Amino acid sequence: MPGATPPLPAVMATHTASAETSLMKIVSWDGKSRDIYQVLTTAFEAKDYLVCIRDLQALGIDPSSYVNNLDKIIDGLLAESELQKRCIRALRKTCGLYGILPTSYAVTCTLSKPGKRPLASGGFADVWKFLDEDNHDHVFAVKSLRVCERDDTNEINKKYCKEVIVCKRANHPNILSIEGVAPKLFEFCMVSQWMTNGDILGYVTKHPGANRLELLIGVTRGLNYLHNNEVIHGDLKSPNILIDASGSPRLSDFGLCSITKNIDSVNASTPNRNCTIRYCAPELLEINGVPPLEKKPTNKSDVYSLSMVMVELVTGKMPYPGSQDASVLFLISKGRRPPRPRPFGAPGMTPGVWKITKRCWHGKAKKRPEVKAVLQDLEKLANSGEELSPSPFWHMWRDIFE
Ligand SMILES: Nc1ncnc2c1ncn2[C@@H]1O[C@H](COP(=O)(O)OP(=O)(O)O)[C@@H](O)[C@H]1O
Ligand SMILES: [Mg+2]
Repeated sequence: MPGATPPLPAVMATHTASAETSLMKIVSWDGKSRDIYQVLTTAFEAKDYLVCIRDLQALGIDPSSYVNNLDKIIDGLLAESELQKRCIRALRKTCGLYGILPTSYAVTCTLSKPGKRPLASGGFADVWKFLDEDNHDHVFAVKSLRVCERDDTNEINKKYCKEVIVCKRANHPNILSIEGVAPKLFEFCMVSQWMTNGDILGYVTKHPGANRLELLIGVTRGLNYLHNNEVIHGDLKSPNILIDASGSPRLSDFGLCSITKNIDSVNASTPNRNCTIRYCAPELLEINGVPPLEKKPTNKSDVYSLSMVMVELVTGKMPYPGSQDASVLFLISKGRRPPRPRPFGAPGMTPGVWKITKRCWHGKAKKRPEVKAVLQDLEKLANSGEELSPSPFWHMWRDIFE
């Protein structure tokens, strides 16, 4: 019969009793009893626990109650423990499946906009500065995704919820985690602390004597933390490395590229529209109509982007300065990379750092080192007393000799 609704597929798989009972116990947790740790351990021992999450509704469990309780349980677990990591994975999966977030993720303070317009607008998002109405010393950056009617908002919402969990639960001194979301302000947005020191490139320009190797080590530690937690950054570049009040670098906007892929569906076929060409690994680029080798960023493409950050940090300029994206793409297609900076133009580009940079931008992803190895090498350089900071007058010399 035309127009008749087809029967719903049977969603309820057969689950082990332990997986189902564990889910029930998590949802009915009273917020105190400590036997919840045993419940979690049993849950993860049941092989079908994650499969079971798909059938929450069929089991009569409200997904929101489940994610709210699971998030509270995570707060009480030892940071970075295997159990906490597994719970975060389960939370991420559930939020992604149902397109929901724990209620506590909505920021509670009242935010007000000091300006009418966003401070910056990128391809897919705007960044706004907001103040806490009750305490104007609390300044926040709100990144709102520009999603249109024609986009698949359902799919975007699911990915957004997944990434919000990662950004909120990230916990490392070199990572800018988010405070939460502000659904009353924007449907898809993330709220983070405002970093008054701006991004890393602006910072080294303002502070020419800054210790670049130390900054680089901080960036690499942040990336290593993400990779250890199975998170690919996907858009590592200086505007996404912000400097906190103590002068330490913090990585932001990790994982967002998985969402931006679904934004602006009309222009979806424009080549390389989802990446910043000069930081992007060659295997992710469409060059001369040849589709990219890799569909998604990987930990090795992050390492390539890290090499570009190394160049920026020591030269104080973005990679391939003065070249348009099209020329950069041409250079990359010929296997070319930024030239070795002249000593006066690059404080900190010592032979040791240069060697690491070259290994990280290898054309073959497999030949690039893991970020963990890069970190060890950089730390070794720092410990061996490799020149860390430029002389206070290096920029004078640079201006004379460049
Ligand atoms: N929490 C923050 N504190 C200060 N500046 C920020 C913050 N978040 C983003 N910015 C700045 O806002 C600008 C726009 O950011 P974004 O929309 O992420 O674009 P981009 O693609 O350049 O990273 C960047 O220069 C970035 O450094
Ligand atoms: Mg950014």
